[in-house]
Amino acid sequence: MDNLKIIKGIINSKLFGKPFTSKFYVTRKCNLRCGMCGVWKHTESKEMNLEEIKISAKKMKKLGICYVVITGGEPLLRKDIVEIVNIFSNLGMSTRLQTNGLLLTEEKLNKLIKAGLNDITISIDTLDNKKQDEICGIKSLNMSDKALSTLKLVSKKMPKSMTIANIVFSHKNIDEIIKLIKVLDSLDVWPTFCPVSLAEESSNQLFKAKADCFSFTKKDLDKMEKIFKEIFKLKKQGYKISLSSEYLKQSLNYIKTKNKKWKCDAGKLYFVIFPRGQFSLCDDVETKYNILDKDFVEKYKSKKFKNFMKHSRNKCEGCIYGIFRETSELINSPLVLFDRFLTIFRVKKRDFLKNKLFKN
Ligand SMILES: C[S@@+](CC[C@H](N)C(=O)[O-])C[C@H]1O[C@@H](n2cnc3c(N)ncnc32)[C@H](O)[C@@H]1O
Repeated sequence: MDNLKIIKGIINSKLFGKPFTSKFYVTRKCNLRCGMCGVWKHTESKEMNLEEIKISAKKMKKLGICYVVITGGEPLLRKDIVEIVNIFSNLGMSTRLQTNGLLLTEEKLNKLIKAGLNDITISIDTLDNKKQDEICGIKSLNMSDKALSTLKLVSKKMPKSMTIANIVFSHKNIDEIIKLIKVLDSLDVWPTFCPVSLAEESSNQLFKAKADCFSFTKKDLDKMEKIFKEIFKLKKQGYKISLSSEYLKQSLNYIKTKNKKWKCDAGKLYFVIFPRGQFSLCDDVETKYNILDKDFVEKYKSKKFKNFMKHSRNKCEGCIYGIFRETSELINSPLVLFDRFLTIFRVKKRDFLKNKLFKN
């Protein structure tokens, strides 16, 4: 993570109300078929080309975006992913690639680093290969081992980065979440986890597949307080848990009550760009606007557009997506910023003591 760019971005958002981050979908195609995910189910295949991505990136820069998460579908399916990273990086934005890691060879990683990639997030939900393959919907991949070895490679090749392992927290992995956090921490990786979002009916939404087998059972719910207590304890001890205490509390509350209403800043502090350039307030609230529209920047800054976004936010039923909640908290709440600094301090202290112990 480019800390300077991030701090500058936080100041710009706080003082001048500029958007801070954007999720940038380069494709909806995926090489996996995860049961809880709806992204790969979209059949639309048209994607922006490099020239169009360059135009979009320049507009995002103009609006004030300092941190871009390049995602999909599976972004490494794009043959021109290195060039895409380079476009954002050349414009001075901090870049993170969110991937399942299946196509991330050492050679590809070297090229991405050379293109200016700052950080990588890799998905992993369990240490059990059979279970991970079941979640990913493809047999005999040994996906858990693959994700772990890719995380090791990334953490070795990008020692100054914040490598994240994204865990979808659900019935499938509730009994190993603590072990998973500890194993990932030992690889110098920051585990983050988000409670699974599910739909009650079959739906067209990205992160809301109807997949009851992921739902927490009554028995799971009984264990939840104890699990979160342990996570808070690990965070205090300096394990690499970047999720803020506030988000952890919100996650526990969401799991227990299903209440996902919150005061979000979608469109204002963050937005999503889909593969054809469609502008969306977040993963769920799409609009008819496109970042490639000639007058998009002026439109975005207009009072009418701000009112439209406010109206859309008010209508939304809410979500528990970490990237959005954490961004809002980070920029709106000094306590969450402090929590972030405290976590980094505790992690550094623990790493220092571990190294000293190891040397002795
Ligand atoms: C849709 S994937 C796209 C990027 C890339 N293919 C990957 O696997 O990381 C992004 C993340 O969303 C998570 N995800 C998918 N469905 C979800 C759901 N219903 N609730 C919460 N997270 C979900 C995935 O596990 C993954 O970590």
